[in-house]
Amino acid sequence: MEVIIRPTTEEAVRLTAELIADAIRQKPFFKLGLATGATMEAVYADLAEMNKAGRVDFSRVHTFNLDEYIGLPPEDPNSYRYYMNKHLFSKINIDMRNTNLPDGLAGDEIAEGLRYEEAIEDAGGIDLQLLGIGNDGHIGFNEPISSLGSRTRAKALTPATYAQNSVYFNPPESMPKRAFTMGVGTILDAERIVMLITGAKKAGIAAKAIEGPVTSMVTGSAIQLHPNTVVILDEAAAAEL
Ligand code: GLP
Repeated sequence: MEVIIRPTTEEAVRLTAELIADAIRQKPFFKLGLATGATMEAVYADLAEMNKAGRVDFSRVHTFNLDEYIGLPPEDPNSYRYYMNKHLFSKINIDMRNTNLPDGLAGDEIAEGLRYEEAIEDAGGIDLQLLGIGNDGHIGFNEPISSLGSRTRAKALTPATYAQNSVYFNPPESMPKRAFTMGVGTILDAERIVMLITGAKKAGIAAKAIEGPVTSMVTGSAIQLHPNTVVILDEAAAAEL
């Protein structure tokens, strides 16, 4: 695993966006795995800026997001579909038909997990998976005690995740208690993983994911098993390494 520490959040974000843009330039029909969360907003702003400047072309890129809340329609401002449209897709030259997220309204949850896995497989797999990390160490919504071999499925969210994400909901109790998420195994199948961790609040969990034992209690630690992983941190998030 490669660990890169940048002095500021802006520089860590810029490097993440540059790595993604470089990878897209090198391969036509690129399959990009995407993440949500506050950390990624600046990455998407940088990618949109690069796209506008003609430095990266998304016209042949296919995207697969990690996760989606169960029960939220795409037009709900808290759905990850809405987040992606707002922060990235509406600002770049991507064909919306090539953007994929689990369907939060899918009636048959088991079938939806299988459909999403098949869509990734049919596309030929993910070339680069962008990851953040939750305060409880989750990647996607793979909460503690998710199997490291898990595939896309419905998952109950933990109190820690509820505490972290319910602030975006009004009222906070309207946050769904479950979500669809790619599994840890699905994520590890990507050709390359790029994880971005910023801010002092993430210093403890960053150290656990990068240097701690590989454990299903911190699913972010599973990236240690991947042969082509880079973790980018700002100095604040790297404080406990
Ligand atoms: C959500 C997403 C994760 C993301 C996490 C981090 O829980 N499901 O994929 O890594 O948020 O969020 P933030 O960047 O806001 O700390």
